[in-house]
Formats: sequence, structure tokens, C-alpha cells
Amino acid sequence: MKISNFIFTVSLLVITSFSNAQQIAIIPEPYQMKVGNGSYTLPKVVVISSSASANEISEIISKKINAVTGDQITKSSTKSNIDIQIINETDLGKEGYHLDVNEKGIQIKANTNAGLFYAWQSLLQIMPTAVFNNTVQNNISWKIPYISITDKPRFGWRGLMLDVSRHFFTKAEVKEYIDNMVLYKYNILHLHLTDDQGWRIEIKALPKLTEVGAWRVDRKGKWANISAPALDEPKTYGGFYTHEDIKELVAYAKSKFVEILPEIDIPGHSMAFLAAYPLSTTPNFNYQVNAGTEFMDWTGYNGHATAKIDNALNPANETVYNYLDKIFTEVASLFPFEYIHMGGDETAKNNWEKSTDVENLMKRENLKDQHEVQSYFVKRVEKIINAKGKKLMGWDEILEGGLPGNAAVMSWRGMLGGIEAANQKHQVVMTPNDFAYIDFYQGEVTAEGKVYKGLRMKKTYEFEPLPQGIDPKYILGGQANLWTEQILSLRSAQYLTWPRSMSIAETLWSPKEKKNWQNFSGKVEKQFEILDALNIKHAKSIYDPIVTTTSNTKGELIAKMEGEVDNLKFYYSIDESLPDQFSDEYKGAFVVPSDVTILRIISYRNGKPIGKMLHIPIESLLSRAVKTL
Ligand code: ACM
Repeated sequence: MKISNFIFTVSLLVITSFSNAQQIAIIPEPYQMKVGNGSYTLPKVVVISSSASANEISEIISKKINAVTGDQITKSSTKSNIDIQIINETDLGKEGYHLDVNEKGIQIKANTNAGLFYAWQSLLQIMPTAVFNNTVQNNISWKIPYISITDKPRFGWRGLMLDVSRHFFTKAEVKEYIDNMVLYKYNILHLHLTDDQGWRIEIKALPKLTEVGAWRVDRKGKWANISAPALDEPKTYGGFYTHEDIKELVAYAKSKFVEILPEIDIPGHSMAFLAAYPLSTTPNFNYQVNAGTEFMDWTGYNGHATAKIDNALNPANETVYNYLDKIFTEVASLFPFEYIHMGGDETAKNNWEKSTDVENLMKRENLKDQHEVQSYFVKRVEKIINAKGKKLMGWDEILEGGLPGNAAVMSWRGMLGGIEAANQKHQVVMTPNDFAYIDFYQGEVTAEGKVYKGLRMKKTYEFEPLPQGIDPKYILGGQANLWTEQILSLRSAQYLTWPRSMSIAETLWSPKEKKNWQNFSGKVEKQFEILDALNIKHAKSIYDPIVTTTSNTKGELIAKMEGEVDNLKFYYSIDESLPDQFSDEYKGAFVVPSDVTILRIISYRNGKPIGKMLHIPIESLLSRAVKTL
């Protein structure tokens, strides 16, 4: 070969390899990945071979490829384009896999069907995006870059919580949520089934839980600002899952290698229960399921919220335990997962404090304060749950007053509860609200709507579930939580979930040392194409600047903008006009004159607007200012 030809060939190879690497945007980042030169194109007749034990995944892959290519799929035990095999390789564990794409075709290997399924999720992400459609796509060359992946998860618990109490999601919507989460290799769906705003699971032995507890007055509007309904107002909003519905959801989740963790939130958060059976320490109250009216006083909350309407079960009433036995008997029989979550969070003690029943219980059981009363309750519940062959999990408040025997803790008020539980040799799932509460708004507050506080995707990416010095064997993994008191539809739920849950997914699956914000945020932008193809609503808040203000010693208001991702330009106006690329470009902190009414900003990349137009009123700019010293 002439030297010039050699140089040309080598540089072509390098370019192909570089462009392959540029195209690959797998989330979560695989454990090991080598991107090759060139690509494999699926032929018109696709031959699939698989070991008999891999037939389940082979079926899923055949169906999908046939649906989008329209190509004929045949099976063969020898020469094939896609080879799917169950192997026995200890290092891969229960969920790991090998995925190779080369001149011979596609080879997938794993110890289990779950592993094969995750290989398929990675393969989907490197195929042309058209694969995410459900109908035959014409004029697509089904090219797949050469690649060699060995992959396995860092944590076994990769959870997403969906609050189906505050907003009821239909069975079809829950299935769609499962479809979406498995794209990013989540394996646990935590269903928050009960709360003050609705009881969502049929309990045959206690029919009023759903006849009454699943229904509330239909109020829209801003959460906690909602006027209290009259007692006789029709209760038209709600719904629940029958036993058959639950079985169907559990089976559907299982077919996608997802376990469902059921949560029955007690002893607080129980207004829907109490509307059906008023087993509180104030049983003569006219209970109804809460429709969004604020009834808690959170001032001074640190385990000490005050309930203006008593929403807690009476821990001194034996009928409560009798009812809970009936409830957990049915819950345990419906959900095969090893854990049942009993909530245990935010229980107001002010009504217990006034109760003679509780006073007598404290004397009888030698309980010295309300924390010990709560702990007594949790221990009784643990006995019930254990008797059904299940393990108890609860929010970190269950540590207060003493953690029962084998209880696992879900740490939400930061990581400290989880650390304390792990130090006491209990299992822990980390879901600290400052990194993993995906109901919080994710971009500019005046554009997104205020839900408690802000949580940018960049901050979610800093989540580290394993604290230094803690024995990893106690940290099961982590979870992102979607509370829905301020969410009125599946589309809004999707918007808050994506893309931030990709970030949590990468933290839970990928090796810590492979995490890299620059690389990850670039991949997320490619994933937007997949979400668009699937009609999954998602936030593009990463394109909006982070706008902060300070007030200087002269009392002037100083505005600052910061990009969450690279290569953005911010153009702004302070004269009420709509900015474009000919407006002032942000180059550094500037003084906002005192007579300005509104700051408007638009982000551009490569000469094109990207993200949304922000309109930030002066009141908001003033309120976010902190005095500089
Ligand atoms: C919680 O956010 N109350 C667990």
C-alpha cells in the first residue's frame, strides 16, 4: 500500500471510530464499553438463534424488529444475525450482560433473562431512533455501530416511586410509566398506594377503604390553597386498583423485570383510612378524604408537625392492629416482592399527646415519649408484616424511638437516617430529598411553577448513595421519588421524571468512577430524540440559565446567569421586549436598574433558540437576592 493510501485508510478508520463514539449515548453508562470501527446493517431476512432458556427475550426482540422493519424474522440454531444465549459467568451477576456488535452480527449473553433484557435496552439505544416507533419505518438503514459491552449494575435496588394516592393513575398509565423506567434499567416501582388524599387498593375484608377512602371532592388549583369542601359535596375524583388490577400490574412489571414495592402509609397520612373507619384518637370528627386543603402546621417540623385535623391512627386501639392485619394479609398475597413499605413518615403527635388512650398505653408499656409510642406502633406492624412472610420497610422516621428487629429504612430527610440505620446493621435505600425528589421544580421557578424547592438535573447527578465509611452491604441502592400532590396528569408526571431520572439511573447502575457530568449531559441531549419518538413528555430545563441575584453594598440588584450545560448563549432584555440573538448577550453579572419590571431571557445554541423564553418579574429577582458582605 502506498504510504498516502495507508494514511488515508487509517484516518478514515479513526474518523469512523470517532463518529461511532460520538453517536453512542447509552444511559446508564455501561461498566465497560469499546466502540469499534464500522457498523453492522440488519439484513432483509433477520435470523435469530437463542438458547431455549432465552426464548422470552428472543420473542421480545423478534417482535420489535419485525414491527419496525417489516422484515421477515426466522429462527435458526446455527448461523444467525442475532444470537441470544444464557451463559454461566459469575462475574456478571443476576443482571449483567455482554453485548457485541461486529461483522458477524449481534451477540447477546447473560446469566439470566433480566441480563438479556438489559442488553436489549442498551442495543435499542444504539439502533436508529426509528426503532422506538410501533409501525414499519420505511427508508431506514438499520445500521448498528460496532461495539463490545460488558455491563452490570452497581446497586441492586434501582427504584422509582410513583405516588398514586394524591393523583390516581390508571392501570394503563402505570404500565406506561413502567415501560419508560425500564429503558434506563430501573428495576423497582414503589407505589405509594395510600395517603390523606386517597386509598387506592381494594381490601376485600374492609370494603369501605375504597368505597369511601378512594374518593374525594374534585378540586383543581394550587395545592394547600384549596378551599375546604362542604361535607355534602359530591366526591367524584378518585379510583383504586382491584385485586385483579394489582395482579395484572405485578405480572406486567415482572415481564419487564420490575418488582413492585407496595406502600401503605401509616400511622400518619391516614385521612382516607379514617374517612372509611375513624380509628384515630378523635373518632367523632366528620372525616372526609382530603381534597388538597392544608391541614398540617409544619412550622418547627423536625418530626413534630401539628395536625389541625387528626390524620393518625390510634396506636392504643387494638381494632387498629386487627384491621392492619386484614390489610397486610391481602397486600402480602398480592405483591410477591419481599418488602412491604409501611410509610411511617411525618406523623403528627399532637393528638396522641392529648389522648387518654395513648396515656394509658404509655403507662402500660412503659413508653416515655411520643417517639416511643410511634416505635411501639412500628414494632406491632413489623410483627404483622413478618407474620405474612414479608420484611418491613419504612421512611427514616421509623428510627425515632428505636428501630424494630429487621426493618429496612428508606432515608429521605437527607442521608443521616440511612447512615444511622446502616450503622445499626439495617438495610437501607437512599432517597435524600435534596438529590432525589423529582417532584421539586427543575429549572427557572417562574417558568416551571413552584413545587417546594428547586432541584436541577445537575444536582441530581451529584447523588452518591454510598456514604464514606459505611459498609456497602447495608446500602441496597437508591431511588427517585415522584410525589403527585401538585401533579394532575401523566404528562406532568413524565415531565418531572425525565430527564432527571436518567441521572439517578446512571448513579444507581454505573461505576462511580465512570460518572462524568459533561459526558452525561451530552448523552441526555441525544436521549431527547428517543423521548420525542416515544411521545414521553420531558423537561428541557437544562437549557435555561440558572438566574441568581445579589444586592451590593450600594443597594443595587445584581443579576447573574449560569449555564447548566455547555455551549449556550443567553440573550436578555430589561425593557419588556422579547429578546433574540440581536439583544444583549449575557457576558457577566450586571446591575438591574431599579425601574425595571421584568427580565426576559432566551438561550441559543449554534445560532438557534433552544429552551424556553423566561419572563422573570422584578419581584422574583428581588426575592432571590441575598446581601453581599
Ligand atoms: C416523605 O417525603 N414524606 C417521605
